[in-house]
Amino acid sequence: MSRIKVMTVFGTRPEAIKMAPVVLELAKYPEAITPVVAVTAQHREMLDQVLKLFRIAPDYDLDIMCKGQTLFDITCRAMSGLNQVLVKEKPDIVLVHGDTTTTFAGALAAFYHQTTVGHVEAGLRTGNKQSPFPEEMNRKLTGSLADMHFAPTMTARQNLLQENVDPGAVVVTGNTVIDALMATVDDGYHFTSRLLRHIDYANHKVILVTTHRRENLGEPMRHVYQALKEIVIDHADVEIVFPVHKNPLVRQVVQEELGELDRVHLIDPLDYQPFANLIARSYLVLTDSGGVQEEAPALGKPVLVLRDTTERPEAVAAGTVKLIGTDRDRVYAETRRLLIDGCEYHKMANAVNPYGDGQAARRIVTAILHKYGIVNSRPDEFAFY
Ligand code: UD1
Ligand code: UDP
Repeated sequence: MSRIKVMTVFGTRPEAIKMAPVVLELAKYPEAITPVVAVTAQHREMLDQVLKLFRIAPDYDLDIMCKGQTLFDITCRAMSGLNQVLVKEKPDIVLVHGDTTTTFAGALAAFYHQTTVGHVEAGLRTGNKQSPFPEEMNRKLTGSLADMHFAPTMTARQNLLQENVDPGAVVVTGNTVIDALMATVDDGYHFTSRLLRHIDYANHKVILVTTHRRENLGEPMRHVYQALKEIVIDHADVEIVFPVHKNPLVRQVVQEELGELDRVHLIDPLDYQPFANLIARSYLVLTDSGGVQEEAPALGKPVLVLRDTTERPEAVAAGTVKLIGTDRDRVYAETRRLLIDGCEYHKMANAVNPYGDGQAARRIVTAILHKYGIVNSRPDEFAFY
């Protein structure tokens, strides 16, 4: 039996977290698969912490990140570096994840080499090409280039079929983020950070906050932080933990609005293990992140999403996620309601897992083995009712 060479390409924190279960699963079939891992390092520190946690040593590290990088910088450097890797490795299939600029560049580079493209987390759509920017177009363009589509949910599958993707090329796998989460969250987890160890989770309402979306940079983020400042001043039992993204454009405004406030902890991005375990101990999550919108519902935590659109409607439908945008008064009012209205809070605080069952990576790798004739059957598919 000849082995298939499967190259995974990723570059940012969320891609690494969600691709890690796939990389680990591919390594379980040494007789059938030769794995190659290529990271662009569009993110540096935020990528490295994930590689360390999951013990992944990339075969190629393009180290492209620079401070204040533009979309052009990322695209050009990733394309040029990946070209050289593809010339050398000649993989049978390239796997990319999600919707970053690394994702699109990875798919385009593979296509230029006439290499099969597998898209993990395929089919998410808002239908608005400006929101999120540039992610909606990155995932659409990647979808157009892909030959295998690993859709996390039935909704994502439906989106792809509406774009005339061949149904036989789509597998509903669940989202690999739930595989990663299940391997990481543990009731007995002990924080190494002194701050996180000493927070009084039982008597304080801990609000976990993250923000980074490009379309929220500047005034929208400032309005969110102003609302949070009011919340902390008005509610003596609230404590905010805010691991601030490395982007200097985010850090500056956060510091201006929330620096030096009692009960507001502005900290560096957390490693994935403490972060995931912190979600589990928080009262409420405010975020514009995609991944956090999937993780918090699985842990029974209400999420207020600081965006006007979402490509992840499943948890909104299940009632644990609410889209609230970035208007200052609205952010204040929605947050306050969940602090003072126990009924409203408990309605949202339901553990639901519309995004996966921890088996996504197995389904993805089985689908690849099936495509290349190494196993006889396609994988079972993920279903959430
Ligand atoms: C990128 C992705 C976005 C994803 C997000 C996850 C694109 C266009 N954007 O956005 O889809 O949701 O990652 O976080 O692909 N920086 C560091 N160290 C790091 C990471 C970032 O210093 O480890 C700083 C750098 O100054 C960099 C800036 O953050 O220039 C922005 O990083 P970039 O990858 O361009 O954009 P993100 O907002 O992180
Ligand atoms: N995350 C993390 N540390 C943090 C904040 C987030 O490990 O300080 C994880 C989070 O659990 C999720 C992923 O990073 O799995 C989400 O990444 P991000 O919000 O940067 O990107 P998005 O999901 O919006 O693309």
